[in-house]
Amino acid sequence: MELLVPLVIGQILRIISYVAAIALISVVVNLIHQQFFYQRNEPPLVFHWFPFIGSTVAYGMDPYKFFFACREKHGDIFTFILLGKKITVYLGIEGNEFILNGKLKDVNAEEVYGKLTTPVFGSDVVYDCPNSKLMEQKKFVKFGLSQEALESYVPAIEEEVKQYIKTSGQFKGHTGTINLPTVMAEITIFTAGRTLQGPEVRAKLTTEFADLYHDLDLGFSPINFMLPWAPLPHNRKRDIAHARMREIYLQIIHERRATGEQETKKDMIWNLMRCVYRDGHTIPDKEIAHMMITLLMAGQHSSSAISCWIMLRLASEPEMTEKLYAEQVQALGKDLPPLEFGHLEKLPLHAFVIKETLRIHSSIHTLMRKVKNPLSVPGTNYVIPTSHTLLSSPGVTARDEQFFKNAMTWDPHRWESRVEDDEGEGDTVDYGYGTVSKGTRSPYLPFGAGRHRCIGEKFAYLNLTVIVATLVREFRFFNPEDRVGVPETDYSSLFSRPVQPATVRWERRG
Ligand code: HEM
Repeated sequence: MELLVPLVIGQILRIISYVAAIALISVVVNLIHQQFFYQRNEPPLVFHWFPFIGSTVAYGMDPYKFFFACREKHGDIFTFILLGKKITVYLGIEGNEFILNGKLKDVNAEEVYGKLTTPVFGSDVVYDCPNSKLMEQKKFVKFGLSQEALESYVPAIEEEVKQYIKTSGQFKGHTGTINLPTVMAEITIFTAGRTLQGPEVRAKLTTEFADLYHDLDLGFSPINFMLPWAPLPHNRKRDIAHARMREIYLQIIHERRATGEQETKKDMIWNLMRCVYRDGHTIPDKEIAHMMITLLMAGQHSSSAISCWIMLRLASEPEMTEKLYAEQVQALGKDLPPLEFGHLEKLPLHAFVIKETLRIHSSIHTLMRKVKNPLSVPGTNYVIPTSHTLLSSPGVTARDEQFFKNAMTWDPHRWESRVEDDEGEGDTVDYGYGTVSKGTRSPYLPFGAGRHRCIGEKFAYLNLTVIVATLVREFRFFNPEDRVGVPETDYSSLFSRPVQPATVRWERRG
């Protein structure tokens, strides 16, 4: 037995030395390849020591820092290795245009996002169907977000926020401290539930549905970009949650069909039950269920994260909260009547606060498309091959000194003197879900551009304005004593968010 020990140790050392030798050889081969064999008509490759890992760590820790550093060295176009994949980044206004308004035959979103999102959203919707079908589905949702529907959402959202303040236990007494990410995630899921999702879903949100949402959200774990089908515990939970959520929506649809009593109502489920595809067939119930799950999941992260950043900014600059309060008093009267849709356009500073926060803190830093045909980049000798994936990051132009003076200073007032709208001037285009501005000549594109542009922008602005206005009426917000400014950004999940805990102190008015 004692004789075996040195033998085993010797064996282990041999295996370690083999592994080390293979690792060393692959590093050397990788360096030689980068130096001597890289195609000269392809964009420059960002230097990396290790094959497969490439620049994954630098990109994953802080994508903006990584993009700006690479731009400094290589200019607006460069390729980096992300978990073995070649990702070509094209920054700047031209890059946004090239990628986001690329032709359907040349660039493809389904192949990048589909494997991750289909188990969460469900089959036959969004990235699990031809693009032409997605465009029709986006048109149906846009139709459901009609002026009339949006008008009805304003009092509903205000009521939800007030109810939350009264009942959640987070705002007990005259002053207190809250962890904003928790509070804003709850408020935004209640407001979206009440408005977009309809009364049946809202009624379930305090019970089973909130847990289902949490489990389904596990499907967006970053590891699922590589292993969405792996039999891991978080994926099992995701699949069970998806099946149960679909069942809940199907039951709602069946009950509505059976009674038909609320058919005049304007919510999204009723809207989708009435819509008809171009080929004449109505939307199958299963697809309606999946579209409703998509709306819940697609809007929630960005809305919850951005509302959190807004409140963190207000807490770090309490005088801005007072300006918002004063704006409401001046525009709506001292008695601050219940909010109505018509009030919102009288509150431009509220809109600028949202706009400015989206400029610096949008939770989506990366938009990707698979290259389907070799793509020549105008004005260069680069041709991007089909083995590459394109990456656009409009957040880079939004943080660029060339377009925004003192770009990293949060200053809502800057929008008072800017003449262009969100999307710049220029052509409009209809990809099948209504006319939108082509939009990529603007350095400010927090809702994306082109055929995959967000359809939730109007709802997001309305939701955020009412939430912020209601909170500002009730409270003042301050940083905890040990924090100056706002917390750092956590980029470890697919959607960036403030590093937690992100606490603020609140104080009731009056
Ligand atoms: C502050 C809130 C929001 C932000 C910053 C945001 C941002 C974005 C961005 C950047 C895209 C483009 C994705 C790409 O090109 O790959 C997008 C697409 C989309 N968003 Fe939003 N969004 C928000 C809220 C919402 C809401 C509330 C909804 C639902 C009502 C929604 C539904 C969608 C849908 C369906 C798409 C289309 C995906 C596609 O065509 O590929 N979003 N959003």
